[in-house]
Amino acid sequence: MENLLNWVEKRIPAMNAYRKHMTEYPMPKNFNFWYMFGVLAMLVLVNQILTGIWLTMNYVPSAEGAFASVEYIMRDVEYGWLLRYMHSTGASAFFVVVYLHMFRGLIYGSYQKPRELLWLFGMLIFLVLMAEAFMGYLLPWGQMSYWGAQVIISLFGAIPVIGDDLTLWIRGDYVVSGATLNRFFALHVVALPIVLLLLVALHVLALHEVGSNNPDGIDTKLPKGEADDDGQQSQFKFHPDYTKKYKIIDSIPFHPYGTVKDLIGVGVFGILFAYVIFFNPEMGGYFLEPPNFEAANPLKTPEHIAPVWYFTPFYAILRAIPDKLIGVIAMGASIVMLFILPWLDRCRVRSYRYRSKLHLANIVQFVIAFIALGILGALPATPTYTLLAQIFSFCYFMFFVLLFFYSKNEATKPLPERVTFK
Ligand code: HEM
Repeated sequence: MENLLNWVEKRIPAMNAYRKHMTEYPMPKNFNFWYMFGVLAMLVLVNQILTGIWLTMNYVPSAEGAFASVEYIMRDVEYGWLLRYMHSTGASAFFVVVYLHMFRGLIYGSYQKPRELLWLFGMLIFLVLMAEAFMGYLLPWGQMSYWGAQVIISLFGAIPVIGDDLTLWIRGDYVVSGATLNRFFALHVVALPIVLLLLVALHVLALHEVGSNNPDGIDTKLPKGEADDDGQQSQFKFHPDYTKKYKIIDSIPFHPYGTVKDLIGVGVFGILFAYVIFFNPEMGGYFLEPPNFEAANPLKTPEHIAPVWYFTPFYAILRAIPDKLIGVIAMGASIVMLFILPWLDRCRVRSYRYRSKLHLANIVQFVIAFIALGILGALPATPTYTLLAQIFSFCYFMFFVLLFFYSKNEATKPLPERVTFK
């Protein structure tokens, strides 16, 4: 057996990679609650792929059959209701954990040098995730699926010159129809999941190349010099770099310390997830919207069209501006800002713990603005709500503008030499 394993290992060093990326990955020992959402995002990704495969076995991707096939899954397929609720709840859970994961990056400055590429891969994941959720939402072919897709696809029509041709190309028809459903199905179940998996692999590889940040935002992977080579055997011996090029301090192997910590997170998450699935799968109309229990009807526009909660902050920015094209540009810009965050923040201190009060206040106002936009995006666009959406959109953008200016010469606190933890 050992010979066989050695034979394989010489050809594909799988165990070596497993140790390097999993069991012996050096984890800063001051990791806290905020550091479990990456693993939870992976868990939800696996849940979505597995439940998605089984849903596909009974789902019919046609305008005539889609709605009825979802009802069939809910009523007649063995445990079909469970598969569907795991998938629909998983979609919302994905955004909950990803938003918290991104927020962690924001407060601890994890996007700063040398983790810019890691952040960019994260943002690409976020974009693909939004496309994946949007396309998946059309599949049940309910009223909200249909009209939501109609509204969002027509946004592309605001682009000058090519707008009309582009919308036609995306829909594959003059209105959202079976042709649109077919292509969204293909993209949702095959193309985008592959892209997502690839991006997640690149995201983790990029992380493991530079090492994790931590709540203090100070380095735990230092370039090795002759002077600090104390001759001690490194705890992390499977990565040749860790013994030759780098000195790893204040870190512990991912297994068992990280695995045990994350298992607690997985347990708590599992309880909350099960609560939603078994007791509150529609989540008051936020996870599954009431109009979607009615089959799509191209002749009847619902009174109030609102996207699912995870899109509403960006949708509120879009609607805050009366001009369609400028609205689309503002919505695009709100995402571009997140992409270029590593270059907007010019401070060399990462964690908010050692940054100015101004920075903390800026983060707090950003979070309030984001949540307020999320609430407003789900409400009808009355004049008062539109005014509020304009104010909070302004606050959203001001976060980035202010950050760019004050971060250059920020009054930061002295950094600790080593990570702090109680
Ligand atoms: C499918 C979605 C995602 C998965 C599966 C995922 C997975 C992970 C994992 C496993 C880690 C290491 C553990 C941790 O720090 O929590 C991590 C770290 C990180 N991720 Fe993600 N991620 C996802 C989306 C994103 C997004 C959307 C962003 C931001 C745009 C992002 C930014 C980061 C950053 C900056 C780190 C390093 C944090 C640090 O070391 O302080 N990730 N990710």
